[in-house]
Amino acid sequence: MALRIAALPGDGIGPEVTRAALGVLGAACASEGISVEVGEHLVGGAALRAKGTPLPDETVAACLAAHAALLGAVGDPAFDGEPRERKPETGLLRLRKALGVFANVRPAKAAPGLAAAGPLKPELAAGLDLVVYRELTGGLYFGEPRSLDLEGGRAVNTLPYSREEVERIAELAFRAAEGRRGLVTSVDKANVLETSVLWRRVVTDVASRHPSVTLEHQYVDSCAMALVLTPGRFDVLLTENLFGDILSDLAGALVGSLGLLASASLGAGPGLFEPVHGSAPTLAGKDVANPIGAILSAAMLLRDGCGLPRPAEAIESAVERVLADGLRTADLASPGTTPVSCSAFAQAVEAALG
Ligand code: IPM
Ligand code: MN
Repeated sequence: MALRIAALPGDGIGPEVTRAALGVLGAACASEGISVEVGEHLVGGAALRAKGTPLPDETVAACLAAHAALLGAVGDPAFDGEPRERKPETGLLRLRKALGVFANVRPAKAAPGLAAAGPLKPELAAGLDLVVYRELTGGLYFGEPRSLDLEGGRAVNTLPYSREEVERIAELAFRAAEGRRGLVTSVDKANVLETSVLWRRVVTDVASRHPSVTLEHQYVDSCAMALVLTPGRFDVLLTENLFGDILSDLAGALVGSLGLLASASLGAGPGLFEPVHGSAPTLAGKDVANPIGAILSAAMLLRDGCGLPRPAEAIESAVERVLADGLRTADLASPGTTPVSCSAFAQAVEAALG
């Protein structure tokens, strides 16, 4: 069987990390006798420049026809201040909606020696092993009504959720907890927001179907603090779209670098796989970005998007071996040591496969 992958490099460091991840993915599949067909498609600022839209119809069609899509990053300061239809980010949001990928899964685990690059004391960082289940196609990002009247000095966004939308992401979070340490922390702001009161009710209902899992509710502000003070006590974090966006960047800092985090966005059809980091325009084209988030996203693509756990595990172990050998990109290198480039790191991972 040939695996059909839609590659969406996007903007900034997106193309570099996507190239790195595709090289590793191709090598891991080749050693399992799986052939891979990759088609490249435009999204974000790259699509705006070439086609005048952040998400060409052709890109959506290609993703829907593929087994899975691998995205680099979107975001380009050249489009700052443009209306929403002409923002790179709008391409990604429309794509998530078009693919119906309502569940964004973002694992964060402290790796030996890496968290030292972050702000936590080593003994705190050591226990960090959590996964964020972020609702991805609803909430503040998509809620109507929304409007912007810059001259008039008024803007509106809306935070709606239906029982069905909360239920389906909660169900996945509880199933994940059953295979992990059995704790779901549901994040909300139920002391202020009506949406959060509904969120709490629905999550509590879903919990009753998963008696082996412990459910706790936390306000998002208090959760942010607890993540820094006691990161090791969290297992599965279940969040609204915006809360999950914010807390996953925080988790990235805690494990040492946002560049380490991978994600899977899942729905009924092809999944979308992308590193959690952004386009980092100031690093673009310099071959200094950390490709680990993209490489581990390719592993998630194989396991969660294509039902291929073997090459996924091979990639994850290869990344661990390269890190154990001491190779570090600039974001992780300790002062006074020489970092390796994005492409050199990826080549080392390919060499460490199998
Ligand atoms: C992410 C990003 C996106 C988001 C942006 C680029 C629209 O920050 O995937 O976390 O806010 O979801
Ligand atoms: Mn984000």
